[in-house]
Amino acid sequence: MTLLIKNIKELLQIRNQAISFVKGKEMKHLPSIKNAYLMIENDLIKDFGPMDNCPDLFCDTVIDGNGKTVLPTWCDAHTHIVYAGNRVQEFVDKINGLSYEEIANRGGGILNSAQKLHETSEEQLYKESKIRLEELMHLGTGAIEIKSGYGLSVEGELKMLRVIQQLKKNYPIAVKATFLGAHAVPSIYKNDKNAYIDLIIHEILPRVAAEKLADFIDVFCETGYFTVEETEKIMEAGAQFGLIPKIHVNQFSSIGGVQVGIKHHALSVDHLEEMTDEDINILKNTQTMPIALPSCSYYLGIPYTPARKMIDAGLPLALASDYNPGSTPSGNMNFVISTACIKMKMTPEEAINAATLNGAYAMGLEKSHGSITIGKKANLIITKEISTYAFMPYAFGSNHIDTVIINGKVIC
Ligand code: NIG
Ligand code: FE
Repeated sequence: MTLLIKNIKELLQIRNQAISFVKGKEMKHLPSIKNAYLMIENDLIKDFGPMDNCPDLFCDTVIDGNGKTVLPTWCDAHTHIVYAGNRVQEFVDKINGLSYEEIANRGGGILNSAQKLHETSEEQLYKESKIRLEELMHLGTGAIEIKSGYGLSVEGELKMLRVIQQLKKNYPIAVKATFLGAHAVPSIYKNDKNAYIDLIIHEILPRVAAEKLADFIDVFCETGYFTVEETEKIMEAGAQFGLIPKIHVNQFSSIGGVQVGIKHHALSVDHLEEMTDEDINILKNTQTMPIALPSCSYYLGIPYTPARKMIDAGLPLALASDYNPGSTPSGNMNFVISTACIKMKMTPEEAINAATLNGAYAMGLEKSHGSITIGKKANLIITKEISTYAFMPYAFGSNHIDTVIINGKVIC
């Protein structure tokens, strides 16, 4: 099957040489071709270039890109889209003055989702989760990382990870799975956190590995959740099974999570709302991708990751949604891009690089996703007619997407 998009007003994020990620000043550069064509064969990008060089070949499908911008689909490297029910009551409680921590201390928060997950069958959990995944694909997401972490028991965590594997099997979007058993301490272990950590390390993790249910391991390294030492112990256990760390750090406090992530070669350190100069410095010249989650800051009313300071210091940065029922009940990457530009002062070029190429790297998908490169997956967003790509983050809240192509197939 061949598909040609012709007369594209601007084709963004073209990379002739596959590169892993962009950092610092490079992030301001978003290579493009004006008046371009792009050819797809089966699920891969076959060719692209200026219209003047468009080969006169028969293609099964031809799309006219007149007035439209084409770019790679979003690569969302941090989500929790598998969950049961919702936490809309906590949303109202928050409006009435309770903080995220206060809600958690009352048995709400992650433990509330864990209770709901416990009461929900695997089949029902799949049904609820697939609705979210389908919505995200229509919003232009073409690769996604999904975490466990609301099971907090052997059966619960395996149930979540099996649902993630079902989603991976049944949808064309690239899915990476992360085991986040250390998301919170379940109520029955509230007086014995070490016993829960033992359960994670000696019972859940070996089962996760035996069933090949996860690619990565995550820990919520935060005051009141898991300490740096506990995070280290869990990452070390994960490494025994080949699970690479991608960890939650510096959301509410800077306690050394970035440092321990780098020490254990984490693929990414995520959240980073509270960053000291030392946290920023130590990330320099490492292979660990910092990930900012601006929708979480927006929803919780907490500080935004200091993207400007980090990029100006020469760091790379990825943007992801953090879609989850408690701190970010939205997975709309278009909103993430807008918020990054508006609130974090990232330029549109930096934001698009962060949500495509750098996001792909933060899931280990940089060889197949995140840029317009011959041989990469044909995962594309075709916008509606817009004057310039900067119009996408500018006119926030509107849907600028006309067509989404995943693995070479038009999905909407
Ligand atoms: O990334 N911070 C930890 N985990 C999620 C929130 C989980 C929840 O509240 O359900 C996050 O923001
Ligand atoms: Fe998260």
